[in-house]
Amino acid sequence: MGRKSLYLLMLGIFVAYYIYIPLPDNFEEPWRMMFTNAYLNTIKYSVYFVELLGLCNSMDSMQIFTSFLDAPPTSDENVTVTDTTFNNIPVRVFMPKRKSEALRRGLFYIHGGGWCLGSAASQNYDLLSRWTADRLDAVVVSTNYRLAPKYRFPTQFEDVYNALRWFLRPKVLAQYGVNPERIAVSGDSAGGNLAAAVTQQLLDDPDVKIKLKIQSLIYPALQPLDVDSPSYRENSEFPFLSRSLMIRFWSEYLTADPASLEKAMLSNQHVPAESHHLLKFVNWSSLLPERYIKGNVYKDPTYGSSELAMKYPGLLDVRVAPLLADDKKLHRLPLTYIITCQYDVLRDDGLMYVTRLRNAGVPVTHNHIENGFHGIFSFLEFKISDKIINNYISWLHENL
Ligand SMILES: *[C@@H]1O[C@H](CO)[C@@H](O)[C@H](O)[C@H]1NC(C)=O
Ligand SMILES: *[C@@H]1O[C@H](CO)[C@@H](O)[C@H](O)[C@H]1NC(C)=O
Repeated sequence: MGRKSLYLLMLGIFVAYYIYIPLPDNFEEPWRMMFTNAYLNTIKYSVYFVELLGLCNSMDSMQIFTSFLDAPPTSDENVTVTDTTFNNIPVRVFMPKRKSEALRRGLFYIHGGGWCLGSAASQNYDLLSRWTADRLDAVVVSTNYRLAPKYRFPTQFEDVYNALRWFLRPKVLAQYGVNPERIAVSGDSAGGNLAAAVTQQLLDDPDVKIKLKIQSLIYPALQPLDVDSPSYRENSEFPFLSRSLMIRFWSEYLTADPASLEKAMLSNQHVPAESHHLLKFVNWSSLLPERYIKGNVYKDPTYGSSELAMKYPGLLDVRVAPLLADDKKLHRLPLTYIITCQYDVLRDDGLMYVTRLRNAGVPVTHNHIENGFHGIFSFLEFKISDKIINNYISWLHENL
């Protein structure tokens, strides 16, 4: 064998090794997943490398990468798209063009991206809102919020909450022709976290008279207290959201100096002993249906230092961890739609919320996607995305 063909062979083996990942049997389009994952890993390794050299925080570099995918506000034949601000928060509004005699439904959408990435202008979120506005004949407000690492909790929460409060004023609803009795809040991933949090916050806001009809949570993150649930264990290396990346996102959201929290979370030793009473709200051993626990054994956690929790009070704040709300509060929440995916570290957060909401008497439609993965609302080239997004819009059509 010549030297050239030897090099080619080695290159071939390396490429195959780099791209190949074992996937479950029921997984649709495994090759699409492997190539997309290899592409994203290349970006991830590059930005981690740049971070290692001390040049730029990896989340900042990733923001620059993802912003290349932003779409300008472009109207099409069915939907008028405009960028504006609600209470100084930039939002993108999607208005159906066809005439309507009656007031329209309103959907307030919160994008995902680990509180660090993404925007209402990201191509996938722009498309999702466009489809929702058109097919539901609804006014869709897709909000932005300031991102970590530059900003952290409570900025993201407050930006979203302020934009939502602005939207829910009778004058603004009238201006957009929205029916105040048919309004939903929806979000995916970190946006699902913010959607659950602002929906809870509205319950006790004396200034807002309008009640939400629906909250819709798409594979939401709902608690950073226990990052060792069965779904965190089983999917710790699954594309597109590994356990370590999720922990990095939590740390970036909660602190300006993420390294110490990240380290404690990786070993699941970050909840101080004096907060042990909160663990019952996120106890997967009692809140998950048996078939998701399978062989996993629950261990009472090893407690972390009190200083850590004092330094990062957000960690145990209900606005960060909507699962920490008590049943009396949950009981007052509106009709809820929750999507969980089998191959997702955040699966059990969603499943535990389903159990807790139902125990508190809230009507819940739970759509568990057996062969779904984290990101199906963002990676629109997968066939399964189309199907799940269609289900979601049809459900809203019937219930909103
Ligand atoms: C606009 O709506 C029509 C009719 O529903 C549809 O066929 C068309 O594809 C839509 N256009 C866009 C850009 O979505
Ligand atoms: C979690 O639930 C299990 C089983 O219901 C129980 O044995 C355990 O003590 C609980 N742990 C905490 C910290 O609530």
